[in-house]
Amino acid sequence: MITETLNNFGYSGIKRELFSAAEIKEKIDIAGRKLSQDFRGKPLLLISVLKGSFVFLADLCRAVEIPCEIGFMSASSYGNSTVSSGNVKITLDLDRDISKYHVVIAEDIIDTGRTLASICELLRERHPLSLSVYTLLDKPSRREVDFSADYSLFTVPDLFVVGYGLDCGEKFRNLPYIAEAEL
Ligand code: IMP
Ligand code: MG
Repeated sequence: MITETLNNFGYSGIKRELFSAAEIKEKIDIAGRKLSQDFRGKPLLLISVLKGSFVFLADLCRAVEIPCEIGFMSASSYGNSTVSSGNVKITLDLDRDISKYHVVIAEDIIDTGRTLASICELLRERHPLSLSVYTLLDKPSRREVDFSADYSLFTVPDLFVVGYGLDCGEKFRNLPYIAEAEL
């Protein structure tokens, strides 16, 4: 009998699984319960910064047991595509006034911190009732600006990770677990 230990969906380029689908679900359920407690009775807007966090947001919002609304943004750095330049351009903006919401950004991974530092600065100028960041993954060793999430589900070392929404050249987003990519 063949025992399949890693379902890589036919992809090559996956070194090893870091966090299984079950481990991710467990952490998301805890995060969802915390959001439900913290924002019960309050207007809550969950925001996904596309594309990397679309899977995280989809699961996180279903772990939230209070009413909430969903928004999408997209941002890209100018210039060099592999190194964050710090000049973040909003390529898709929210479709509503956030001044009446407690806003929670669901992010896939914080690396240099530049993308979220810029997005948070921009959103603060719009005066939400509150602004917090829930990140699926945090790579603190790579930080270039002083930025920390309010809640982080997993901390990762300086590796390139894929799966569960995160890509390498637009591939691997559909893997149900988080893996180290073979670069
Ligand atoms: P930052 O501005 O450097 O914090 O950029 C964060 C963005 O870079 C994330 O939202 C991801 O889209 C991307 N990124 C950083 N590290 C990784 C990784 O290990 N795998 C996949 N994408 C990553
Ligand atoms: Mg991203």
